Amino acid sequence: MTRGARAPANNRQKVMAELGYSQGWGVVAGATRISSVGQAGLRYRGYDIAKLAETVCFEEVLHLLVYGELPTRRQLAFLRDTLMEFRRLPRPVVDVLRSIPTDTDLMDVLRTTVSLLGHYDPTHGDTPDDLRRRSIWLTASIASLIAARHRFVNRLEPLDPQPGLAHAEELLFQLHGETPDEEAARLIDLTLILYAEHDFNASTFTARVIASTRSDLVSAIVGAIGALKGPLHGGANERAMEMLAQFHTPDDAAAFITRALERKDKVMGFGHRVYRNGDHRAEILEAALRRHAETAGAAKWMAIYDAIKTPMVTEKGIHPNLDFPCALTYHLLNLPVDLYTPLFVASRVAGWCAHVIEQVEEDKLYRPLSAYVGEPPRPVPPMSAR
Ligand code: CMC
Repeated sequence: MTRGARAPANNRQKVMAELGYSQGWGVVAGATRISSVGQAGLRYRGYDIAKLAETVCFEEVLHLLVYGELPTRRQLAFLRDTLMEFRRLPRPVVDVLRSIPTDTDLMDVLRTTVSLLGHYDPTHGDTPDDLRRRSIWLTASIASLIAARHRFVNRLEPLDPQPGLAHAEELLFQLHGETPDEEAARLIDLTLILYAEHDFNASTFTARVIASTRSDLVSAIVGAIGALKGPLHGGANERAMEMLAQFHTPDDAAAFITRALERKDKVMGFGHRVYRNGDHRAEILEAALRRHAETAGAAKWMAIYDAIKTPMVTEKGIHPNLDFPCALTYHLLNLPVDLYTPLFVASRVAGWCAHVIEQVEEDKLYRPLSAYVGEPPRPVPPMSAR
């Protein structure tokens, strides 16, 4: 954005502040029982994220978010069977996945094909219980969409799902066609757990606004995908890796960050609207990433990572958000950058669905007001006077 274009926005913020309004932040937009986000911690339905990350798998988190409680052993087995049942994509959707031009952004492909998938929804109904089952269908299908499209772009045919695999393993299997090693599956599972839910972030709020009009689940998820794509939100993990990938040495990275700070450039994968002193999810993933980098002989990458992180934290007081360690984790697992934001979708769909269900249960239309800061009342001039 040019300087000239920023001025009105700044004036708007000034006027808003004078009127006693904050614009887009610091405003409580609703109540939720799904997660709590704050500097003191992140909890999914009351459970601390660090404990969940240590002890459960993504499917248990999915159950927790969508059904409200962690599953029993039997419920988990049933959930895994249901995910399996829904993994196979309808033929017309596969045909469209194959036909979209290969250079199309995978988030755009996902937006289109999730919408199309809605026409072949094997589940029915809009009661909260129906929506729970449809959430499992969406979670299974979205993972399959990402994997199938990845294979088409690489001139490979999609694979049949492999019964008996956990969700993260299945995702890796469908992408690469091999049973993944335990470490890779555990790291993917961890990113799925950490990305799954984050209260009223932009994409979740989008989904809730759509659901609040009594629209449908698929429309809400398609809208959320559009919101997540932006680089200030989910798109940041791809931008963060594009930044890291430029550097051959930590010194290159240090020089880049010095210049970026001088120019006041936004560094992707850093900063957060809620977490001002660090993102708990980033700390959890960073610890796992460091362990992995050590065994994978990727010390150079961690040195580059630190060359960016250290000055951001010490000189600017701006901490990494989850997207920064996530970008390097995916890179060290040999995943191409265009999959990073779609993998965020593969996880966050759980949170979006939980919020849509909560919104449907509340059945209240979102209709915010704005503070008008435009021209005062004025007559409509005739054409000759304009
Ligand atoms: N790099 C450099 N400076 C930054 C950054 C950053 N990533 N984030 C904030 N700042 C600076 C900002 O320029 C401002 O400086 P000054 O006071 O000198 O003008 C100061 O910190 C306060 O920033 P802000 O604009 O009030 O922060 P915000 O709460 O509006 O922005 C944010 C939050 C996430 C939009 C922003 O930090 C950002 O653009 N980060 C990069 C994109 C990114 O990583 N997004 C992922 C967010 S977390 C995962 C998700 O939700 O998807």
